[in-house]
Amino acid sequence: MAVLRVLLVLAFAGEASSVQQPACSYLSLLRHLKLDTANHLVSITRPVRNWTTPTWVWVDMLLHGILKVDEKAQTVSSHVWRHMSWSSEFLTWNSTEFCGIEYLTVPTSSIWIPDVSILEDVSDTGSIYTSPVVKLHHSGFASTTARQRLTTACRLGLRLFPFDRQQCNITFLSTSSEASSIHMGALNNGSVLTHVAERFMSTQGEWDLRKMDIAVDYLRSGESFSSKVVYMVFLARKPMLYVINLIVPLLALLVLDLASFFIHEARGEKLSFKVTVLLSISVLLLVLQDMLPSTEDRLPMIASYCVAVFGLVGVSVLEAILVGYLIDLDAYFGRTAQTSAQRDKQPEDAHLGEPAAAEEKLQVKPEQSDLPLDGLQQILQAVAVLREEAERRVKERGDGTYRRMAEIIDAVFFVLYFVAVAVFLSYMYAAWVSHAML
Ligand SMILES: *[C@@H]1O[C@H](CO)[C@@H](O)[C@H](O)[C@H]1NC(C)=O
Repeated sequence: MAVLRVLLVLAFAGEASSVQQPACSYLSLLRHLKLDTANHLVSITRPVRNWTTPTWVWVDMLLHGILKVDEKAQTVSSHVWRHMSWSSEFLTWNSTEFCGIEYLTVPTSSIWIPDVSILEDVSDTGSIYTSPVVKLHHSGFASTTARQRLTTACRLGLRLFPFDRQQCNITFLSTSSEASSIHMGALNNGSVLTHVAERFMSTQGEWDLRKMDIAVDYLRSGESFSSKVVYMVFLARKPMLYVINLIVPLLALLVLDLASFFIHEARGEKLSFKVTVLLSISVLLLVLQDMLPSTEDRLPMIASYCVAVFGLVGVSVLEAILVGYLIDLDAYFGRTAQTSAQRDKQPEDAHLGEPAAAEEKLQVKPEQSDLPLDGLQQILQAVAVLREEAERRVKERGDGTYRRMAEIIDAVFFVLYFVAVAVFLSYMYAAWVSHAML
């Protein structure tokens, strides 16, 4: 009986203690934090006892993907997770008093949240997902997360396209609060962020994340300063597609044009070949036009490259036209010289016969020169042969002058052209492509 009584007493004692300490429920904690009723005051004021105490706001950003870089609009779209935490002097509790509760989640509308926004943000509002709850820690730290398809304005330098590197800043700042009331800080440093981003990056497109850096700074607007955290994202473009689609074909066309100097002139194929090369280059120029914005002040290197290749091949087409013209001129003079020679030759041929025959006579009959009539005829024949020879020489000179001139022009131009192409290509390499290797 005594044992039963003891047990009963123990049971009642246990029950009584559980009535006295109902602090294991979230409800009691909410009551302790005065969040049980719609406590408006907690959500509208900065949670400090003395107004001069600044509130620290820590931001963290995880770059989850680079979706698109728009060269024409000068924007970068990325997928980011944003994390923000701040300290509250009112929302603290001793976790031992509440059965070890360390974390509590409350709706975002019930407490004060710093108004941190991104300076470069140009995304539409539909692309942001903010967590509806705030997570509270017993030490007074509150934190929220947001997931966003973030489009930021970024001034893209396209001079070295497609070997360009971009630096885009993502600036977190509190637009309505001064630095005296809100201090901004970063939770992680740049190398940690780079490492984490590299691990969790789901998509990078044609870009490569080189590194991320963080700068904590002040933004001055008039007399007031506001604190800001700048995330500097360094991106490098993967240039292979453009190299294969544009740079290498243009180079190949330039080499083809150089090779076309070895096509024989007289065939008339050289000019049409060169014009075909020129047309192919202009097709590639159309591709380029789609890729680059027209807003660039300084001409991108790739545009200079295309225009220079076009210009070089254009000049070589002009040269081919000139050489073709000279050869035609030569053929024309050669023909007129021939016809005039034939016109002069026609009446004499009647009694002088073939020049070859005359020559033969000249060679064959020197020992029969004892007769005076024969001697006279021999002299006449010799004169005719000499004249024939002289005429042929004259004709050949008229024939050869322009052709030789064309050949000289072609050779000199080829050398100059080769040197120009070599200088141009090495300049392009030094000023442009070598940047990709750094
Ligand atoms: C990005 O921010 C850093 C630090 O404030 C600054 O030095 C740099 O000029 C900024 N870059 C751009 C592109 O705005």
